[in-house]
Amino acid sequence: MKYPKHIAIDGPAASGKSTVAEIVAHQIGYLFFDTGVMYRAVTLASLQRLNGVNDEKAVSDLAEAIDIDVRPPSVQDERKYDVLVDGVDVTWDIRKPEVDANVSRVSAYAGVRKAMTAQQRKIGERGQVVMVGRDIGTVVLPDAELKVFLDASVEERARRRYDEVQHRNQPEPYEQILQAMKKRDEIDSTRDLAPLCPADDAHILNTEGMTIQQVVDAILAFLR
Ligand code: CDP
Ligand code: CDP
Ligand code: CDP
Repeated sequence: MKYPKHIAIDGPAASGKSTVAEIVAHQIGYLFFDTGVMYRAVTLASLQRLNGVNDEKAVSDLAEAIDIDVRPPSVQDERKYDVLVDGVDVTWDIRKPEVDANVSRVSAYAGVRKAMTAQQRKIGERGQVVMVGRDIGTVVLPDAELKVFLDASVEERARRRYDEVQHRNQPEPYEQILQAMKKRDEIDSTRDLAPLCPADDAHILNTEGMTIQQVVDAILAFLR
């Protein structure tokens, strides 16, 4: 079967983008590319090397300079891939609450978006890719042949994230996850550059109450 060359999947936090996109990509033999990883990596590097994310110029310069690499997993834990920044494994560090709390600030900076978008397009334009993020259908790959926007209520999305982190050390309480998610959604949706919003030609899928398999099946149906 001939599939769309570029598949763009966007949506708010914990709408199921990466889980579902990875399964779809695997089933059709496409590359899975999670662009959120890159904004998280820049945020972590800024926190570590600049002592914070307030200096827009310094953060943007750092975004241009660092080498972000995503590779098959080298360690057997829950990870699906390794994320390396300048050769250092940051797979789990980029998921910390401190990164969650600062990433929307960083990803609103024009210099950061310019650097990340350029790298994402370079890979995306080769095709056979399922690319996941906030602005893939609108900005990164506006000509993608299939665009899907996943959504669900913020309460359900916070519950999904809460369930996901329960077995980790010092899991965050539900209420904290919910508030942080609301704040991140708000900043991501209202920024001037490449805000979170469905492309005009995106299929909007409300995943409230849907299982992962049901969402995968819905996307596979769009593919056909
Ligand atoms: O996994 P989760 O949906 O919680 O977040 P993510 O996809 O890893 O994205 C983290 C943050 O990166 C988002 O809240 C956005 O601020 C930013 N982001 C973006 O601005 N554009 C993208 N294409 C992807 C992520
Ligand atoms: O990538 P994104 O932040 O949009 O979401 P995710 O990390 O793929 O999904 C967040 C959590 O919700 C994962 O633990 C999924 O297993 C779960 N999930 C779910 O329970 N039901 C769905 N329909 C989709 C995802
Ligand atoms: O072009 P090069 O051989 O250096 O590497 P690539 O596999 O084409 O990927 C270049 C960059 O795209 C990686 O370093 C990651 O930043 C990103 N990427 C990703 O985020 N997820 C993937 N599955 C593949 C690449």
